[in-house]
Amino acid sequence: MRVIITLQDKKNRDNKVDAAAFFVEQDFSLSTFKDSVQKYCPDIEKLIKDKRFTGKKNSVFVTPVQGANFGYIIFLGLGKKDKNNVINFENYRRALGKLVRTTPCFSIKSVNLELPQETVFGVSGDYLVKNTAITTVMAGYHFDTFLTEGDEEDKTDLAINILVDAQQESKFKSGLDTGLIVGDAVNDARSWVDLPSNKMTPADLAAHAKEIANDYNLKCQIFSEDEVNKMGMGGLSAVASGSEKDCKFVILEYHTNEKNAPTIGFVGKGITFDSGGLSIKPAVHMETMKEDMSGAAAVIASMKALGQLKPKVNIIAIAPITENMPSGTSVKPGDIVTFYNGKTAEIKNTDAEGRLVLADALSYITKHYKLDALIDLATLTGACAYALGPFFSGLFSEHDDFTKRVTDAAGTSGDYVWRLPLTDDYKPAVKCEVADLCNIGKKQYQAGATTAACFLQYFVADVPWVHLDIAGTAFNVPDVNYYQPYSATGVGVRLLVDLAMNWKV
Ligand code: BES
Ligand code: ZN
Ligand code: ZN
Repeated sequence: MRVIITLQDKKNRDNKVDAAAFFVEQDFSLSTFKDSVQKYCPDIEKLIKDKRFTGKKNSVFVTPVQGANFGYIIFLGLGKKDKNNVINFENYRRALGKLVRTTPCFSIKSVNLELPQETVFGVSGDYLVKNTAITTVMAGYHFDTFLTEGDEEDKTDLAINILVDAQQESKFKSGLDTGLIVGDAVNDARSWVDLPSNKMTPADLAAHAKEIANDYNLKCQIFSEDEVNKMGMGGLSAVASGSEKDCKFVILEYHTNEKNAPTIGFVGKGITFDSGGLSIKPAVHMETMKEDMSGAAAVIASMKALGQLKPKVNIIAIAPITENMPSGTSVKPGDIVTFYNGKTAEIKNTDAEGRLVLADALSYITKHYKLDALIDLATLTGACAYALGPFFSGLFSEHDDFTKRVTDAAGTSGDYVWRLPLTDDYKPAVKCEVADLCNIGKKQYQAGATTAACFLQYFVADVPWVHLDIAGTAFNVPDVNYYQPYSATGVGVRLLVDLAMNWKV
């Protein structure tokens, strides 16, 4: 469903629409809605009581009304205030998701949306409008490319009119525009990840990057498999060696006009399908492995948004993209490879391929660019997904200042992170007798997500660096109404955009 969002002067709220939507706190009082609702639906108190609607988070109440300019009223529950006397903003995002998902059930195609008070969440009006746009656009996403008998409801548009005071309209306009750009970029990332590996090859994803570069004036370089091999990217070469499809090494650059601006690096793991290679995965684990390019998708899609939003920092984005397949030519357990920075590793398990392609990308970016900070996103380990589940990405870093920036961006954007350890204790886990490193951690150290981060650390020189493991958060996330529980989330796009846009020197 396409969601079309506009700002509308509150005074013109008498326009004809299918529904009027209101947000309510848990145990709200109907008296606040005397004028707006009660006069069109005298029984409302009883109806709400009968349905036992109290405004709990994730709850919704819909009823038809008579004599109003809208056919239905919709109440969306925000839940209760927390210990700090504010409502968690995420409750609002999910309520918006609920709204967008509920409308088709009643053939509602236009809604007047009464914004909740920003003070309820302790945020600014601009932030509220921006996130309303991002979230409703995200909630409208549905991966339906291959449904030949498409659901008619899915093809229709939903118009959402956000009611604001006339004098605030121009003020909120930029929040709305930003939100639409970010929401679209998130959905782009989701649509690339959702495409199965037979429809989204390394060349296809690289083509999207190239198109974005053309559209938004970004510098773009794409190295082919031959070039990757010649440049000495032994990790990416090894992983790509089993696949008949050419691998790609994509570089996108955004440069600000600002003098002496800092430069941030984004790196994303782009495995369009992870079979495990010769260390092949069991069938259940392989089922969703088209998702293994989610880091690359996030990094490329965020550049689409940033190309339009023009942050005051330079951004270098790199995505090593390949399939991981078994074949007569694939890399074998015991093989030793040399990475772009000259370090070597014994590949004991070909399913730990993410760190191999990232090793070359991190080496390349730290060698060729003077970075002030570097962040990578990767669906790197099942261990991280087991540890944190689907609602927090794992954050690994030894740089507290940069970690603070990333954690702040996570909190404001809704791409939540949780820090896990990365300390010297774990580092011997990836040491090897016959090469500098081994691509799986030694057994006694356990902590598979941390030992994977330890491996990556050998390739980031001394640049302040954060690694985000998005294995649990990239795909099939339940209960979040603005995601779909059977598809990609676009995790990381909102965070990266926020990080770049709010960078203060
Ligand atoms: N792509 C997987 C990790 C993954 C698991 C992503 C679940 C998304 C959901 C990665 O390449 C992998 O296979 N990692 C191995 C590493 C192990 C062999 C050390 C894992 O986690 O089992
Ligand atoms: Zn793997
Ligand atoms: Zn993988």
